[in-house]
Amino acid sequence: MSVSIIVGAQWGDEGKGKIVDLLSSKADVVARYQGGANAGHTLVIDGKKYVLHLIPSGILQPDVQCVIGNGVVIDPVALMNEIDMLHSHGIKTEGRLFISHKAHLIMPYHKLLDAAKEKNPVGTAIGTTGRGIGPAYIDKANRTGIRIVDLLDRETFTKKLRENIEEKNTILNKMYDMPALDVQEIVSEYVDFDRKMDAYITDTTLLLNEAIAENKNIIVEGAQGALLDLDHGTYPFVTSSNPTSGGACTGLGIPPTAVNDIVGVVKAYTTRVGNGPFPTEQFDDTSKHIGKVGHEFGTTTGRPRRVGWLDLVALKYSCQINGIQRIALTKIDVLDAVDELKVCTEYTRNGKVLKAFPADCASVEQELELHYETLPGWNTPLEGIREYDNLPENTKKYIKYIEDFTGVPVSIVSTSPDRRDTIVR
Ligand code: GDP
Ligand code: IMO
Ligand code: MG
Repeated sequence: MSVSIIVGAQWGDEGKGKIVDLLSSKADVVARYQGGANAGHTLVIDGKKYVLHLIPSGILQPDVQCVIGNGVVIDPVALMNEIDMLHSHGIKTEGRLFISHKAHLIMPYHKLLDAAKEKNPVGTAIGTTGRGIGPAYIDKANRTGIRIVDLLDRETFTKKLRENIEEKNTILNKMYDMPALDVQEIVSEYVDFDRKMDAYITDTTLLLNEAIAENKNIIVEGAQGALLDLDHGTYPFVTSSNPTSGGACTGLGIPPTAVNDIVGVVKAYTTRVGNGPFPTEQFDDTSKHIGKVGHEFGTTTGRPRRVGWLDLVALKYSCQINGIQRIALTKIDVLDAVDELKVCTEYTRNGKVLKAFPADCASVEQELELHYETLPGWNTPLEGIREYDNLPENTKKYIKYIEDFTGVPVSIVSTSPDRRDTIVR
């Protein structure tokens, strides 16, 4: 039996989808625990590309059960589109996809409020994905959110919706000068979704705990990344959930004692999409080259991703707060033609070396001095290399440097978007 949590160790888009898909070949169940359709996980199988936002990346392995847990905020529009997309590729979801009845729903007003807040921010805009994530988690914490279970009773659902819309209409209208929403219209839209989602809805907490009791292999899939964590990330430039491994237990209703493997997915350099601090960000020709070769454009929004060197200070922090036991290193092939590789090994501020990743990174970023080590490049195409021993010496040196610095072994090395191009040590 194993419960493996796969987390993004940086600012998201590390290649979690590819790694989860790969590890799912030996899994019985794959479960998502937080976030929503802000995620964009890309899988490439035999040259065919699939992008998933809500449905776990295990869905491409035909015998795997997939769970969307209570910690996820579900936009039925995005969910239906994704189910249709999978069906159009002949992938079955019936009897394989299970959605928690405790999960909160993203409502039309969440998306409107997300967009309106970004347009007229208090302070700087976060650069959200506009998927209504923040406003949905606000309602969850405010205890006014609407859960999937509420759809069961039309009367309760209509009452909750009416109360919410009254409040939201006031905000939309008074603060953002937007037209009022119609309760009845939303009720009928969601009643229709309920009909379509009904077959997938169940008690996923029970399902997962039974799977644990039956010694099944479970993969737990994180979205976003540690530095976007609401508590531990570069606040306020974060998402509104806990992508770090701790979030997996609350987001699924499984006990911490059941978890025996934590994999951190690490991109061989760093990217960030949206606003906020990014100490190792670069604006030179090399970073432009990396962005181009790595196709660094947001999977969900198409925005160009910001690019920088591998930040080992941030990565070590991420290993610590997640309890990462092994690293899956991705996109190392993107660095193939870079002559000299830099890795950040130390932050200093006011002449003092920082012992920990700064809690106020967003305000002190300009005062940080970064220390870099330079490592030699390998000038060899890595794509297609399937044995660790066949990697160039300088690639192995780069990997060893990461292992020594973090104290965590690199157990998977990914050398292209395709499922096949992966070295498992
Ligand atoms: P996720 O959100 O963590 O699942 O990552 P995304 O799918 O948003 O972004 C990762 C991108 O890199 C996708 O386009 C993947 O197909 C691609 N990718 C994943 N692993 C590798 C790799 O090892 N090499 C290259 N070149 N691309 C990769
Ligand atoms: P995956 O799972 C990268 C970023 C947004 C923004 C911030 C808040 O594909 O790695 P939100 O819409 O969540 O309120 O936006 O978080 N963000 C991501 N960045 N990968 C993601 O997901 C992200 N999901 C959200 O760009 O900066
Ligand atoms: Mg992504």
